[in-house]
Amino acid sequence: MKHHNSRRNFIKKTAVLGAGISVLPKFTFGMTTSSKAKKLNVGFIGVGLRGTHHVVNVLNRDDVNVTAICDIDDNRIKIALDHIQKKGQSKPRIFGKNDYDYRNLLALKEVDAVIISTPWLWHTRMAKDAMQAGKYTGIEVSAANTLEECWDLVNMHEQTGTHLMILENVNYRRDVMAVLNMVRQNVFGELVHFRGGYQHDLRHVKFNDGKTAYGKGVEFGDKGISESAWRTQHSLLRNADVYPTHGLGPIAVMDNINRGNRFTSLSSNATKGIGLNNYIVKNGGKEHPNAKLKFKQGDVITTTIETANGETMILTHDCNLPRPYSLGFRVQGANGLWEVDGNRMYIEGVSKPHHWDNADEWLKKYDHPLWKKYGEHANGAGHGGMDFFVIHAFVESAKQNIAPPLDVYDAAAWSAITPLSELSIENNGDPQDFPDFTRGMWIKRKPYNWIKDTF
Ligand SMILES: NC(=O)c1ccc[n+]([C@@H]2O[C@H](COP(=O)([O-])OP(=O)(O)OC[C@H]3O[C@@H](n4cnc5c(N)ncnc54)[C@H](O)[C@@H]3O)[C@@H](O)[C@H]2O)c1
Repeated sequence: MKHHNSRRNFIKKTAVLGAGISVLPKFTFGMTTSSKAKKLNVGFIGVGLRGTHHVVNVLNRDDVNVTAICDIDDNRIKIALDHIQKKGQSKPRIFGKNDYDYRNLLALKEVDAVIISTPWLWHTRMAKDAMQAGKYTGIEVSAANTLEECWDLVNMHEQTGTHLMILENVNYRRDVMAVLNMVRQNVFGELVHFRGGYQHDLRHVKFNDGKTAYGKGVEFGDKGISESAWRTQHSLLRNADVYPTHGLGPIAVMDNINRGNRFTSLSSNATKGIGLNNYIVKNGGKEHPNAKLKFKQGDVITTTIETANGETMILTHDCNLPRPYSLGFRVQGANGLWEVDGNRMYIEGVSKPHHWDNADEWLKKYDHPLWKKYGEHANGAGHGGMDFFVIHAFVESAKQNIAPPLDVYDAAAWSAITPLSELSIENNGDPQDFPDFTRGMWIKRKPYNWIKDTF
């Protein structure tokens, strides 16, 4: 673990240097810009659409060097290099000769932290290798595909002491953070029930013409590009909530999961799956070979989760039918509730009895300190600004080598929804027990301090 130690020293030194220097506008973050050695050196594994987006976001900071990039697709390397050169940064080391060339990136001394934005089946093995190499690890969502992989992440973190952050950007959405602020200030009272989900018509993402990522054609797998090249196969073969973390991450944090609370069991049900087939027939004709495929994934998958402290959460996966986007959040306590659909709030004793308030005033009143401070900068960063904050939290945590806000136990517990929902659906909705990835430590672990304006 030589790398690990030298990186620790780097991080210790820079943390001291950075202490006390406040964050300034124009993306000056905590450290002076005079010496490149004082910056966090980040390597990127996977620079497809998402990875490139992260590259661009870190290029807007003055405390990060992009020292290495890896992708098996030369085109994607070219696009990322172009962004890096335009920002005047030195040319990074390039990897991607084969599927495992990322391991050579991980061997570099000039990489302190990595951001992994590859297809799902690569996430855990790359993250494990990264932690083993002592690199502070950022992993795109979802983190793992099987329960074994969830444990692999936890075990590798515990063996090496290397941190992993799941890069769940929705936790940083402005309304979500304002509602988290309300939760922490006890506006809803004792919490009782939550809803969330991934309700996003992805038909134009799951299929394309092999040339344009979104919107044209009905091809996938070898004939598709970007997400259709790998994501659609999961809909073909798995009847499960394969993308749980956007809907679950925010409510799990509000409910202190893994920190004084935990998921205990779930039960899932799936509807029939007709949406993807209809889309292929409509756009490619009923004679198209893909029109004959039977997609295993139900169009609407509903999971009910129980927690140790007696709350329930209803999580929905709804990606194969025509519908406008919504993550469908609801946060409900003894005193009232927020529902994102309808943008409405009700707090007993403040709202007119039995009438919804428009949520805007509430969300403004409880705007999160981070959004108050960085909101203007963040707005250009993608996905309504939340991508800025998730990368900000990653970089700031990595610079100090401290546990990130969304850690390996969160990554494991949230990702476990996929295999557990699959088992439950297969068994007519039978309840499935959640593994306790903290091995009992959830009882002692304290909630993360979210209400601050640093990161
Ligand atoms: N948080 C969000 O809002 C959000 C948005 C989009 C995607 N994502 C997640 O980001 C990840 C990537 O999605 P994407 O849309 O960028 O997909 P993509 O297909 O555009 O990019 C994946 C990249 O990984 C590369 N790759 C595949 N195998 C590799 C290997 N062995 N070594 C190196 N590179 C390899 C591919 O060539 C491709 O360029 C997924 O996990 C996805 O779920 C998250």
